[in-house]
Amino acid sequence: MHTILRQADTEAIRQAARLLLADETVAVPTETVYGLAANALSDVAVRKIFEAKGRPQDNPLISHIASMEMLPMVVRSVSECAYRLAEAFWPGPLTIILPRARGLADAVCAGLDTAAVRMPAHPAARALIEASGVPFAAPSANLSGSPSPTTAEDVLADMDGRIPLILDGGPCDVGVESTVISLVGAEPVLLRPGRITAGQLQQVLGRPAVLSNAVLHPLEQGEAAASPGMKYKHYAPKAEIMLIKGSLDAYKTYVETHLEEGVYALCFTGEEQTLPCPCVTYGRADSPEEQAHELFSALRMLDAHGARLAYAHCPAQQGVALAVYNRLLRAAAFHVVEVS
Ligand code: TXA
Ligand code: MG
Repeated sequence: MHTILRQADTEAIRQAARLLLADETVAVPTETVYGLAANALSDVAVRKIFEAKGRPQDNPLISHIASMEMLPMVVRSVSECAYRLAEAFWPGPLTIILPRARGLADAVCAGLDTAAVRMPAHPAARALIEASGVPFAAPSANLSGSPSPTTAEDVLADMDGRIPLILDGGPCDVGVESTVISLVGAEPVLLRPGRITAGQLQQVLGRPAVLSNAVLHPLEQGEAAASPGMKYKHYAPKAEIMLIKGSLDAYKTYVETHLEEGVYALCFTGEEQTLPCPCVTYGRADSPEEQAHELFSALRMLDAHGARLAYAHCPAQQGVALAVYNRLLRAAAFHVVEVS
């Protein structure tokens, strides 16, 4: 298949909408990461997403809507809490898990009776939903297991020859995937941290969401995944990543005393002058937003340089930084070294 990459202008959006309605897939920019979209109401279309990505069939997808009127196409009931969150954070990088609607393609939910829904803020994503008139299901537009794409070029690198069209909307604003909260149980559960923080959710809900065990820990053998996506080794570049937790001095000492062939430092911007090996930076230490924005391109950069092993300076674990930490933990397959 020939893959076309084009600017997400009006004509390109029309072409993308025609493809969606013909059960084809299209890569589309969102404010978080690029998504690989297909008509969420068509099983045939949604199965093509799994095929193109090489994604396990038991990992459900997020459906994207452009207005509250479209919500019943995806979910069958909406709690008061869900309305409050939608009002506060939509359009934006928040995904809510609710009971699924019957009309949603089965392949979207991967056998669950629940569905994930979000209203993206990116104008190209919204225009595509409006032009096609249907919600699109979309995971991140990378090959399953590799870092999420934050530019159209990243998408092309993974998906060339696998999908007909990539809409180029420039680099993504947020850089990590949406916050995922489940509202189907007795308590709200934060399944995946993102730009919308636990603190912001608590402010709207009037109580804290339970932090899913999967955010900070690998699944135990036999444990069921609340969010099946958390089961898989994720966001992993080819380079091995080790997270080094500690002060800049302790991190420096660790790197200095563990130098080998093919070793890189994945450090905060400004730290590279003081480190004795090649470095890739991922934002300033005091800006978790910048870290989120740069993390996935930094992981891809390590591979472009042919890094064998990267010592990553560990981010903080609260607020937006929790999202960065969660992605890095997975990229590192939970390999963390504490230094002091
Ligand atoms: O920012 C984002 O969320 C991006 C853009 C494209 O919207 N999408 C994205 O999709 O990150 P994906 O497939 O990479 O991640 C979806 C996550 C997975 O961890 C999946 O297991 C979880 O949401 N999920 C989807 N449906 C679910 C459900 N019914 N119950 C629990 N978790 C669900
Ligand atoms: Mg993904």
